[in-house]
Amino acid sequence: MKTTVYNFKGGVGKTVLSLNLALTMEYSIVTNDIYSPIEKVLNEDRILKIHHDEILPAFPDDYNIIFDLGGHIDKRAISAIKQSDFVLVPVIKGFINIQVSIDTITELLALNQHVIIIANQTTPGDMDDIRAAMERFFDLPVFEIKQSKSLPNIFKEKKSVRAMVSEGGLKKYHFNAVADQFDLIIEYIKERGS
Ligand SMILES: Nc1ncnc2c1ncn2[C@@H]1O[C@H](COP(=O)(O)OP(=O)(O)O)[C@@H](O)[C@H]1O
Ligand SMILES: [Mg+2]
Repeated sequence: MKTTVYNFKGGVGKTVLSLNLALTMEYSIVTNDIYSPIEKVLNEDRILKIHHDEILPAFPDDYNIIFDLGGHIDKRAISAIKQSDFVLVPVIKGFINIQVSIDTITELLALNQHVIIIANQTTPGDMDDIRAAMERFFDLPVFEIKQSKSLPNIFKEKKSVRAMVSEGGLKKYHFNAVADQFDLIIEYIKERGS
């Protein structure tokens, strides 16, 4: 199964969400990010960097890949988006963030109808605000990933949020809610993907 994580905007959580999904599902990551922090976590046989002058190939459908892509929709992004089962769009609060996300989703829908919105880094109330803003324009599923230290922690611990929870301990117990939120997304795409 192939999934693209996309937003024109930087800093919305594309990379950290991609990484947690890849670690949890044992997928590989293809990125257009030259300085990807993912390299420090995933083995090099599970990360592929596509430079701006390179073509992003059509990977076989039985490959399990997350495309972590930012910036404008160039040829590489079009190839990734078109071959993906789903396109996940992390959206964080704030007027500009929401405007850019609406523009992103509008462009994505021309290439792939299976867009899923992830209200990311939420604090109480944000999920409702983001959902309300998105529902004015789109009829798309909206999932939530709350603000949590477990996400930046992935780079230090080099394991998924779910794996951190499994280690036990009070601090890790705290991460259970986020691991459950990821599980809902994973269940949804696995049930409906190829
Ligand atoms: N749900 C979250 N909770 C806490 N921090 C988060 C969350 N999502 C993203 N972050 C942090 O926000 C910053 C930007 O995320 P990143 O994945 O690099 O965004 P992008 O790839 O879209 O530029 C990182 O420091 C990341 O750890
Ligand atoms: Mg990134």
